[in-house]
Parts: sequence; structure tokens; C-alpha cells
Amino acid sequence: MDKIIVKGGQTKLQGEVEIEGAKNAVLPLLAATLLASEGEVVLTNVPILSDVFMMNNLVDHLGTSISFDQEAKKIIAKANSEIKTTAPYEYVSKMRASIVVMGPILAINGQARVSMPGGCSIGSRPIDLHLRGFEQMGATITQNAGYIEAKADKLKGAHIYLDFPSVGATQNLILAATLAEGVTTLENAAREPEIVDLANLLNKMGANVKGAGTDTIIIKGVEKMHGAKHSVVQDRIEAGTFMVAAAMTQGDVLIKDAIAEHNRPLISKLSEMGVNFTQEETGLRVVGPEKLKATSVKTLPHPGFPTDMQSQMAAAQAIAAGESVMVETVFENRFKHLEEMRRMGLEVDITRNTALIQGNSNLQGAAVKSTDLRASAALILLGLVAKGQTTVRRLSHLDRGYYKFHEKLKALGADIVRVKDEDGEE
Ligand code: EPU
Repeated sequence: MDKIIVKGGQTKLQGEVEIEGAKNAVLPLLAATLLASEGEVVLTNVPILSDVFMMNNLVDHLGTSISFDQEAKKIIAKANSEIKTTAPYEYVSKMRASIVVMGPILAINGQARVSMPGGCSIGSRPIDLHLRGFEQMGATITQNAGYIEAKADKLKGAHIYLDFPSVGATQNLILAATLAEGVTTLENAAREPEIVDLANLLNKMGANVKGAGTDTIIIKGVEKMHGAKHSVVQDRIEAGTFMVAAAMTQGDVLIKDAIAEHNRPLISKLSEMGVNFTQEETGLRVVGPEKLKATSVKTLPHPGFPTDMQSQMAAAQAIAAGESVMVETVFENRFKHLEEMRRMGLEVDITRNTALIQGNSNLQGAAVKSTDLRASAALILLGLVAKGQTTVRRLSHLDRGYYKFHEKLKALGADIVRVKDEDGEE
């Protein structure tokens, strides 16, 4: 595997950056392609990421034939009237998001057998809400030898209240409900922009989904679905990561075509820290102050502050003036990057889900390891401002969600290289 070496302390990022389509949108969109029984689903603005390759392989294995034109960032998913019932371990174990194939498989075949999912190590991440929803739609769930099995002669519309607005459960239940008999109402549904993107594609494919983006989503089951064309929504987390990068480096960066609406809580917090935002015709300009102010942040489901921006924001707090607070309420174990940041001189007190971060303008570069996808980005961002050299290992996490991250930073003026890791680290 590779490592990234970043030399920090001087860089003021400057220029323009283009943002890819959203990983967290395209994965469920790919699962949705399984629902078409005829035609082609054409997805454009597809990000080139290892998670996308994994999902492509899974969907292709299940029966919808996938071709990915990487140059055009376009996927053509050719419908198949028959879809396999089993999503095997070798495809599912590496990526938690693959659980969203369960809804489509169950809706199409009346049964689904899906290996327990894997993914980033950010807490135990159960799937009880997905399964309870399927049960309410008439499925019987059993667990056997690492596989979850669901059976229902025909899924039936139901009134489902989610105890927590889980993104994955909302997606899985919408997907299942599109071909169910009757009307499904999801209450306390997730409201993320990626949910809206999924509903938009499904409606183009012939489904009837209303209310996505609010906490009540109503899905009227349809008989069958067909091909459609859809451009993947912009990755608000990648855009947000570059906003923080500009903020931390006294930078001046134009995030091209940024959808400010999708990043409101982040923009609000960064503004509080002294960052300046200007909406321009071609994007959102982000100008970092000489010194960031401390701030308190609490992660919440959308439209609250996104947990996927927690580590990057913590990197900004690490160099702000004074003590900042970070409270993580979405995942139970998402502070591992703070331990790595300690190697760079960060003083942080962690009590359960709350971190008290002492801002320090004298952080020193160090050798660190990515602990999850967003942590990788955060460590690289901190490397941009820490004095000396930071080496970030375990880049497989980074490649799951950021396309050409170091090249984009380099183009903005960062002193950063990606090289083979001679020590043979993963
Ligand atoms: N949860 C349950 N039961 C369930 C489902 C979720 O208890 O049945 C809990 C989880 O354990 C977690 C919380 O609810 O504590 C949030 O989980 P959610 O289901 O909302 O998250 P997810 O669907 O697994 C997606 C993103 C994550 C992102 C979260 C929260 C994708 C592919 N993944 O995960 O993205 O952090 O929503 O916004 O969309 C990332 O991109 O780095 C990433 C981890």
C-alpha cells in the first residue's frame, strides 16, 4: 500500500477545486439499479472510489450487468429480470453500505440472504432498524451462519417509525417499499441529501416516492420499474473537507459548484471560527482567517452537523485559539483519529463521546495511521499545518471515499506526495 507524506507549516491553499459525485449517494443508487426489470440505468458524475468498485461487483454478481466508463465517470447498469437471492460474504464483508442490496433483493424475490456487513471500524453499527422495518412489511428474519435471511411471499406496505433516523435503514426500506404491495410510510426518516438523490432516481425509474428530505417519506408500491438517467449529487463531505482545508491554512479556495445548502451546519460553525464564505457564480469561495477561533460542535443526523465531518473539524479545532468541544452523538467509537493526533502534540481529554480539544499552533509532524475514511483526511489536513513532516499510512481507508485527494491538495499548493510504503504497511 502507499503512504502520504505532507510537509506542513507554511502552506496557504489557493485556487479552485472540483468535487466528485457523492460516495454515500452512489452506493444506494447502485443498489436501486437492481430494481429495474428492463432497460438501462445510466449514472453520471460517478466518483472513482474503491467502495464504488466493490458495490459494482456486488450488483453485477447479483445479476444487473454493470459497465463503468471511468473516463466519462459513467456507469451503465443493464437490467436483468432475474436477480440472485444471496449477497455472499466475499462481496458484502468489506463494506457496510452493501446491506442496502437487501431491500431490493427482498422486494424482487420475496427472499434475501445477505452476509453480515463490514465497513469502517466506527462502533458496532447494528442493522436492527433495517430488519425491524422489513418485519413490519411482512418479512420473517432469521440469522444463520453469518447470513441474515429474510422471507416474505410479497412485501406489504406498512407504517414504520424509525427509532433513530438511520441513513442506511431509510434507504433500505425505501428500496424495499418501491415494489411492495400498497403504501409504506416511514416516520422519523433520515433527511440527508443522499436520501433525496435516491428518491429522485427511483422516481425516474417509475417508483412513487414522496417526501424525501423530510422526516416522513411515503412510498406507493408499483408493479415494476425500468431504466433511467441520473447524475449523482455532489459529495458534500468532500466539499466540506476542502472547506476545512482552506479554513486551516489561511487559504483562499473556490469550491466549484458547491451546494452550500447541503453544508449549512459546517459553514455556520466555520463562520463562527472566523472563516469567510462568499457565494460566487462558479462556486463557494472559502477564505481562512489568520487564527481560527475555538468552537463547540455536536454531531447529529442531517440537518445537524455531520458525523462525517467530525474528524476534519476536530483537526481545525486542534489549531484554533483556546479550548474547543467536540461531541459525537451518531457513532459510539469515532474518536480514534484524536489518539493519532496526540502523536502530533495535540492535547485532548476524551470522556465517553465528548472531546475537549486544546488548540495548539505548535503541532509537530509525525508518523500516523488512518483509522477510518474521514480520519485519513483529517490527519492529512493536520499535516498541512503541523511543523515538519507528517506521514499518513493505511490509505486504503482514504481511497474508499476520496478521489485523488493528495493531487487536489497539491494543485492548491500543498507540499504533499503519495509514495509506495517501503515498510509494507497496509
Ligand atoms: N444504527 C442502529 N441500527 C440500525 C442502523 C443504524 O443502531 O439499524 C445506528 C448506527 O450504529 C449508528 C447510527 O445509527 O450509530 C447511524 O447509522 P446510519 O444507519 O445512519 O449510518 P449508515 O447508513 O451506516 C451512512 C454513511 C456514513 C455516515 C452515516 C451517518 C453511507 C454509505 N454511509 O452510514 O458514512 O457516517 O450514514 O451520516 O451512506 C463515511 O462516509 O465516512 C461514512 C461512515
